Amino acid sequence: MSSDSPLDLVERPRRLRRTASLRAMVQETVLRPADFIAPLFVVEGKGEPEAIASMSGVFRYNVKDLVKECRALAKLGVPAVALFPKLDPKLKDEDGTGALNEDGLILRAVRAVKKALPELTVITDVALDPYTTHGHDGVLTGAGDDVDNDRSVGILSEMAVLHAQAGVDIVAPSDMMDGRIGAIRELLDAHDFTGTAIMAYSAKFNSAYYGPFRDAVGSSKAAGTRLLSKATYQLDPANRRQALNEAALDEDEGADFIMVKPAGAYLDIIREVREETTKPVAAYQVSGEYAQIQAAAQLGWLDLARCRHESLLAIKRAGADLILTYFAKDMAKLLK
Ligand code: PBG
Repeated sequence: MSSDSPLDLVERPRRLRRTASLRAMVQETVLRPADFIAPLFVVEGKGEPEAIASMSGVFRYNVKDLVKECRALAKLGVPAVALFPKLDPKLKDEDGTGALNEDGLILRAVRAVKKALPELTVITDVALDPYTTHGHDGVLTGAGDDVDNDRSVGILSEMAVLHAQAGVDIVAPSDMMDGRIGAIRELLDAHDFTGTAIMAYSAKFNSAYYGPFRDAVGSSKAAGTRLLSKATYQLDPANRRQALNEAALDEDEGADFIMVKPAGAYLDIIREVREETTKPVAAYQVSGEYAQIQAAAQLGWLDLARCRHESLLAIKRAGADLILTYFAKDMAKLLK
């Protein structure tokens, strides 16, 4: 066959990729500022924003600066923030009692943000890791060789009620204890917080990608606790059926959103959860996913803007309705 006679093809898919306008017309997945939830770290005091070495471009803010940052995000069209406190180590103890302190940092932060920006959706983590000396998400049994599931659930439920009283729109249990969604729903309702939603970290894997976050909130210890690993409550990265089981249980117990975490290495799970539930699915592009893109970009090995966009597009294409990402502000600026 000579090179000037065309192939006899029924389809030439490249026709739709020929020009930028054609490519725009057939683009299936589109990112917008309203897709993103910005995780933010808050600290006590009046100091300058604190840089986090392993998370370039991410800071811990005092309450006043946190409000400023939230205002900037809201202006850019980011609809929600997820707040995480970094506690003074002196305020931590074995049982994480600081989590129930009615004047605690996170509660003051929530009140300040909701007062300044009532329309911004505020989400808080419900887990004990910022408050416990051992860094586990729950309290331990007497022997210290396990988390005390049921006692932890009781404390977490009280914590959720305190957060609701402070004005959060959504509580996000990230602890992975059995039965916590139902217990939290019940206690919220008993306190007339029927309008406070629950975003369940349902498929939360025992991931190495949380490393930089643990630097940010100072909870690194549990990852290496001799007697007890988070593997006793977080999911094994090898398992997909268990992830689907957790998502189904959380939905039955009253979760309003189902979350998969991390995101990038679990796109198959996001897709399957998306197909199994009618609830909105959130995915958390975690600290390590952010850090690896930042680090490679700093070395000149990856193009930051393109990898950032591609990583988030993939998460949305997999089926996530919402993405928690440390890139939220940069993306909103670009997309606005
Ligand atoms: C703690 C919590 C973790 C993250 C969010 N909530 C870490 C952990 O389970 O140790 C990780 C987020 C990130 O890595 O960005 N309950």
